[in-house]
Amino acid sequence: MSGFHEMNGELCADGVPLSSIAEAYGTPAYVYSAGEMKKQYMALSGAMQEYLPADQQPLLCFACKANSNLGVLAYLRALGAGLEVVSGGELTRGLKAGFNPAHIVFTGVGKTRDEMILGLTSGIHQFNVESVPELIHLNAVAGEMNMKAPIVFRLNPHVTGGGHTKISTGRKHDKFGLDETYLKQAFDMLPSLPHIRCEGLSMHIGSQVSTVESFKEAFEKLPGLVRALRAQGHSINRLDIGGGFPIIYKDEKLLDLSAYAKWVRDIISPLKVEIIMEPGRYLVGNAGVLLSRVLYIKQTPDRQFLIVDSAMNDLIRPAMYDSYHAIEPIKNRHLPPVSYDVVGPVCESGDTFTKDRSLPELSAGDLVVIRSAGAYGSAMSSNYNTRPFIPEILTHEGTHTCLRTRQTIEEIFAKEHIPNWL
Ligand SMILES: Cc1ncc(COP(=O)(O)O)c(C=O)c1O
Repeated sequence: MSGFHEMNGELCADGVPLSSIAEAYGTPAYVYSAGEMKKQYMALSGAMQEYLPADQQPLLCFACKANSNLGVLAYLRALGAGLEVVSGGELTRGLKAGFNPAHIVFTGVGKTRDEMILGLTSGIHQFNVESVPELIHLNAVAGEMNMKAPIVFRLNPHVTGGGHTKISTGRKHDKFGLDETYLKQAFDMLPSLPHIRCEGLSMHIGSQVSTVESFKEAFEKLPGLVRALRAQGHSINRLDIGGGFPIIYKDEKLLDLSAYAKWVRDIISPLKVEIIMEPGRYLVGNAGVLLSRVLYIKQTPDRQFLIVDSAMNDLIRPAMYDSYHAIEPIKNRHLPPVSYDVVGPVCESGDTFTKDRSLPELSAGDLVVIRSAGAYGSAMSSNYNTRPFIPEILTHEGTHTCLRTRQTIEEIFAKEHIPNWL
């Protein structure tokens, strides 16, 4: 059995009962299913294998920001993924997880000098450059090191993509990428920048892209632009077409991977370029759950609160994006439904996973999972309310491995100091 499934009336991950994970590591805890990650990776790479020629198979650079646990990264690397990083910290993680630097791409609007030096010394595949000042800075840093920085320019295609305004990145007013005018200016500057080697273009229109036709709309901006740039003598060898593949949290439309692959085949492939993609959420989102225990059931005059031991500091998405996450009991999964507001212990009304949700009746002490928590869950967690980071567990073919142990309170304090004059 792989992925999340029911066995003997209990929710399990890759054949491991979730109650045994709660017993071994306590709650709350993140549980990731290796089987589910592999299924997603194979679905995406399989669609590309079906529609693209063998010599044009894309490098699938997992967007590290979605889930940056070293064990998760190493597993995806073993499946064949490359890595997309947005900071020196993520780049260091990627190297520690064993990625070939030639399979790492570095995006982000605010790369620092130290991050540029790290990228250059490690020999990464490319910097995805997002502004003219960044380009000039990178040329100077590479010059000091007597190197040439491999880059692509990130195009802002002016396409609305992401499933929420905070995760849309390709609109005119977003901070990301260069729009066509600035892009041309940047290409014109290249002859005067001896420490830059431009390889092509990148783009990423947003995350959880809900109108999947937006991908096509964005891709269609590329052929004309590539031909115009080539006509001016620029070599365009690579196109990095980003991530953004949606997953199902509730009732969203699933991306038709064949349709997507056909768009890549019909629009991108004829340009005879190396293709890079940056999937994040798609590979890990539904491979993770936040395993939690019900602490109390609190009745108020007009509602019933299910107070669980996980909170907004563990999973910020509902508070930040009003996102929906399915919530399910581990056992007694088919009892008659009761309406609950599911909340955590943090001192904010925003610490609410859902309101008025019909769930099988629960009691204090029961275990529940908050689903679809494998992407932008642990990676966005914090120590708010001095709550320690929680364990991350990977299940694989009937086994479980701890990928991160629970942080202790002393570890939280370790970097803090009381002035000696107090
Ligand atoms: C540049 C870039 N690439 C890839 C991704 C991954 O997006 P997703 O997780 O939706 O695939 C992001 C997400 O913010 C991003 O900013």
